[in-house]
Amino acid sequence: MTTTRIRPLVAGNWKMNGLAAALAEATAVKAALSDSVAPADVMICPPATLLAQMAYATRGSAILLGGQDCHAASSGAHTGDIAAEMLKDAGATAVIVGHSERRADHGELDRIVRAKAAAAHRAGLTAIVCIGETKGERLAGLTLDVVARQLAASLPDAASDADTVVAYEPVWAIGTGLTPSPDDVAEVHEAIRGHLAGRYGDAGSRIRILYGGSVKPSNAKELLALPNVNGALVGGASLKADDFLAIIRASAP
Ligand code: 13P
Repeated sequence: MTTTRIRPLVAGNWKMNGLAAALAEATAVKAALSDSVAPADVMICPPATLLAQMAYATRGSAILLGGQDCHAASSGAHTGDIAAEMLKDAGATAVIVGHSERRADHGELDRIVRAKAAAAHRAGLTAIVCIGETKGERLAGLTLDVVARQLAASLPDAASDADTVVAYEPVWAIGTGLTPSPDDVAEVHEAIRGHLAGRYGDAGSRIRILYGGSVKPSNAKELLALPNVNGALVGGASLKADDFLAIIRASAP
């Protein structure tokens, strides 16, 4: 296992929020980050409609951009879908795959998520692969089983720290204001680290594991300081530059 600190990644998932006027939030983040070195890699995953404009608005800054989903194929007759290659072409360097909202709203199974992650890799994008248990699964004591199953089936065999990030997002913590206890987060992240290191060796010990689910300025410091928490995937609090910046700052060691 490597002992070097993994540089955190704080990624904002805007979900289905944001018209052109919201680009001002991204430019505010850009302006605030311009006078100092950010303590984390910073990413915004806007709706696909804003990706190219945001790439233009944040050019010359350290802000990375990501998509929120991609199709497994590189092109073809898939009305309404977006290929990983298209996200890359629009300015993304990463794409979220397997978010619980995609799994729930679109019936995405682990094998579909794995194909999407492989598509991201094919296109030269980092795959941010989301996993996490439902409330019922947690109450039934199944969290570690669910997470292990999702990891085993959602990650491509060829994944490495250069192209893959894992986001642990308990479904019941998303958008609810609820978070697991620090001990519970640490327990799950330790189990994820064990899986990644066992499967991918040294690369697996370096893959970033983000926590997501009701991360906000008031709890970010505590969550981001936990062992094996290498950053955050932030929903609602990423929509406002001030809140997002406070979370980015909370990632400083
Ligand atoms: P919230 O931060 O709004 O709970 O959303 C988390 C999330 O789903 C990020 O992908």
